[in-house]
Amino acid sequence: MNQYIINGHRPLFGEITISGAKNAAVAIIPAALMVDGVCRIENIPQISDVTLLFSILEGLGARVRVLNQHAVEIDSRQVHSTKPQFDLVRQIRASYYLIGALLGRFGEATVAMPGGCDFGVRPIDQHIKGFTALGAKVEEGNFVHAKVEGGRLTGASVYMDVVSVGATMNVMMAAALAKGTTTIENAAKEPHIVDLANFLNFMGADIKGAGTDSIKIRGVDRLTGGTYSIIPDQIEAGTYMAAVAAAGGQLLIKNVIPKHMDCISAKLMEMGVYVEELDDALLVRRSGELQRVNVKTLPYPGFPTDMQPQIVAVLSLAHGTSMVTEGVWSNRFRYVDELKRLGAHIQVDGRVAVVEGVDHFRGAPIQACDLRAGAALVVAALAAEGTTEISHVQYIERGYEDLVGKLRAVGADIRLVDLPEHRSTMKDIG
Ligand code: EPZ
Repeated sequence: MNQYIINGHRPLFGEITISGAKNAAVAIIPAALMVDGVCRIENIPQISDVTLLFSILEGLGARVRVLNQHAVEIDSRQVHSTKPQFDLVRQIRASYYLIGALLGRFGEATVAMPGGCDFGVRPIDQHIKGFTALGAKVEEGNFVHAKVEGGRLTGASVYMDVVSVGATMNVMMAAALAKGTTTIENAAKEPHIVDLANFLNFMGADIKGAGTDSIKIRGVDRLTGGTYSIIPDQIEAGTYMAAVAAAGGQLLIKNVIPKHMDCISAKLMEMGVYVEELDDALLVRRSGELQRVNVKTLPYPGFPTDMQPQIVAVLSLAHGTSMVTEGVWSNRFRYVDELKRLGAHIQVDGRVAVVEGVDHFRGAPIQACDLRAGAALVVAALAAEGTTEISHVQYIERGYEDLVGKLRAVGADIRLVDLPEHRSTMKDIG
């Protein structure tokens, strides 16, 4: 078990290059199972969720050849199983994409119910509704078993009752190799949905409308392979924007798609942070006092729920009282007690957090409880006076490539140390 030791209250100056998007990579890697050929994927983030998915694919018979730090070649021609290894699947939420990918290509999938960050009920009924509409019979228990008679799904019309990133991507994957045309209405529009559609199209699929709420997928007989580069990570970039907003200084955040950042940039600018959009970079500077704002998380292009904990950390240091409403998950404020240990004044009532700005944070020992919660604690610790020890950083390493190295390069005093096992009390839910 590792922890971060952060001596905060130092402004950040310099450049940070953003890695490939985690939530695109964790869909595109399973989607590589659908390719009856070789695909080369570039700009892959080096994070533990990705490493785990490679192991899952290899267990099914795919050949995964790491070409360099950020590029991999996946050959799925010899895939011989539709039952990914239970204990690996349980460690990562995105393993539900294995259902869509395997069902689409082989007509069958048996996948353990996915684990993942715990922020309330996380049903997959919309995924199942989509697979069923395409002709699969789906049984749920400890495992999801989906199968279609005759081995091939049939295109259909699917209306999503809730806007779901995972269900949109999963049904899109399954439909890519179905017989006939599928339409997904009330689809999610996140940048990683467009990225998955682009990946599948590069491999030979026929998908139109990704990025709107109506996606049309004409099923093809086969996906044949090719090369694809994953988009930059919107949330990683947003996290470093939050870090400079909290700690002060100026960062040039490189390798971003500025349009994807609008929802985050707009809020930070409203708070008084300077954000300048360049070609594929953002210049972010905090000089004066931060002002209060209200935030409500929503599906894209709204303010992302995956930035909610980080923005609460920043608002905790703003002048005045802000209201943050969580519009996507039922319970995503579990980290608030840890921020309070640093001196934050936050009251949570259901899906609303009332954040009363304080002058400063003071370092303390705290624990990450999930990926973005952990990122928020890092943001807060960078601003805090004195030393903060953050434990359970394995959650953070699921989604942030070389967080320590990137922050050290811009002047942060952060290091990774071993934590003796006996201090670890939390259950690892992946
Ligand atoms: C994805 O989760 C992301 N994970 C999450 O990011 C992110 O918070 C979320 O989208 C929302 O943007 C990955 O991409 C791997 P949803 P996902 O289906 O797809 C309800 C991070 O920190 N719902 O869009 O699982 C659900 O309960 C992670 O990187 C149903 O009711 O989220 C929630 O309230 C954490 N039935 C809402 O929809 C369903 O079948 C949105 O969930 C599916 C979802």
